[in-house]
Amino acid sequence: MSTLEDIQDKTIGVFFGGQSPEHEISIITGEFVIAEMKKMGLTVVAVYVGRDGAWYSDEKIAKLAFFKGEYKKALAELPEYYLNLGRSEYKLALQQKGIFGAGKTNIEYIFPAFHGLYGEDGTVQGLAEFFQVPYAGCGIYTSAIAVDKVLTKRVLHALDIPTTDFLVVQKQEYDKGADAIEKQIHDTLGLPVFVKPARSGSSIGITKVKEVKDLRDALNLALYYDPKVVVEQSVEDVADVTCAVLSDGEGIHISEVQESLFTADLFDYSVKYLEDGGAQTGNAESNLVIPATISPEHTAQVKDISKQLFTTLEANGTLRVDFLLNKKTGELFANEVNTLPGTLYHHLWKKSGIDINVVLEMMLKDGMCRWNESREIHDDYATEVLTNANQAKLQQG
Ligand SMILES: Nc1ncnc2c1ncn2[C@@H]1O[C@H](COP(=O)(O)OP(=O)(O)O)[C@@H](O)[C@H]1O
Ligand SMILES: [Mg+2]
Repeated sequence: MSTLEDIQDKTIGVFFGGQSPEHEISIITGEFVIAEMKKMGLTVVAVYVGRDGAWYSDEKIAKLAFFKGEYKKALAELPEYYLNLGRSEYKLALQQKGIFGAGKTNIEYIFPAFHGLYGEDGTVQGLAEFFQVPYAGCGIYTSAIAVDKVLTKRVLHALDIPTTDFLVVQKQEYDKGADAIEKQIHDTLGLPVFVKPARSGSSIGITKVKEVKDLRDALNLALYYDPKVVVEQSVEDVADVTCAVLSDGEGIHISEVQESLFTADLFDYSVKYLEDGGAQTGNAESNLVIPATISPEHTAQVKDISKQLFTTLEANGTLRVDFLLNKKTGELFANEVNTLPGTLYHHLWKKSGIDINVVLEMMLKDGMCRWNESREIHDDYATEVLTNANQAKLQQG
C-alpha cells in the first residue's frame, strides 16, 4: 500500500495536449487536474505537447486561461523543451532548448492527461515504464486494448459480455474494393449501422448510417481519422449509460450509473463538450441523469460488468465503461472502455460520494503501488552465453 506521503515530495508532471483530435479536451482535463492537485498542496509541473509534437513546460501554461482564444502567438514566445533521454534514476528530465545545463526540470511522477492516440493508448505509459518513472492511470496493455474499439470487442467476446455485432474495415482493403465491402456491411449487419474510427474518442468521426447512399461518406470520414474502422449494428431506442471504476491499488470503488441524454442520432461532440458547457465535463447537468433511471437489474449488471472489465483488463487508477441499452427490448450491450475519462468524470464521482481530491489521491497511490511492484522484477541472470558464443558460426547462419 502506498500513501500520499510517498508522492508529496515528488515533482508531478501533468502531461496534456498531444497529437490526437481530442487535443482540446485533453487541455481541459490537464488544466483541471493541475488546478486540483495544486489545491491538494502537491508540486505540479504543466507539461504541454503541442499539435506539432513540440514540448512546453512553463508556469504560464498551467492555467486554462492561457489556451482561451488565440494562444498560438503566446505559445510561440515560450521556450520549447525536449526530453533528455539520457540515463536517469527514476525521473524524466525536461530540458529547455538552447540552454545547456540550466532550464531543467526533473519529473518524478507522470500524470498522463491525454485523450486518444499518442497518450491514452499506452505510448506515454511506455515512455514512463522505459524510464522507470511512476505514473498514474492504466498501464501500457490496458490502455492499448481500450483505445481500440475492435480489440475491446474481442475481449468482450472472450468474456461473454454482450456487445453489438460488427465488421472491421481496413483502409487498404477498402481502397481496393469499396463496393464489395459496402455490400458485405449491408448483407451481414443491415441498416442502420454506426461507423467509427477504431481508435478515436469524443464521438469524432462517428456517423449513424440509415441509408445505403450515406455509407460511403461515413466510411471515408471514419477512415480519415483512422485506417482501421469499425462498423456495428445500431442499438435502437437507446439509453446511453456509463459507469466508472476507481482503485488505489487496494480497494475498488464503483460509481453510480449515469445516463446521458441527447436528441440527435448519438451522444455527439457538441452535447459532450459545447452545449451548456458540456455533459462530459459535468457542466450540462440537464443532460445527465445520475443515478440512471434504469431497472435495478440493469444497474447491477452495468456495475458488475464495469468491475469485471477493470479487473480482467488489469486496470489501474480509473476507467469508465460505456453501455448501450435498448429501452424497448431490455438488451444491454457493453460498448467501449475509456481509460482516461474527460476531467476524470469528477461529476459522477461527486454524485457517488467521492470528491475529486480523493479520486486523484487514489490514482496517484495506485500508480505508486504499480511502481513499487515493478521494483520486484529482477533482470539479473548468470550466464556464460556470451563467452560461448561463436561469431564465425553465427555469421554462417
Ligand atoms: N451501436 C450503436 N448503437 C447506438 N448508438 C451508438 C452505437 N455506437 C455508438 N453509439 C452512439 O455514439 C456515441 C459515441 O460512440 P462511442 O463508441 O462511445 O465512441 P466514443 O469513443 O467517441 O465515445 C455513443 O455514446 C452513442 O450515443
Ligand atoms: Mg463513448
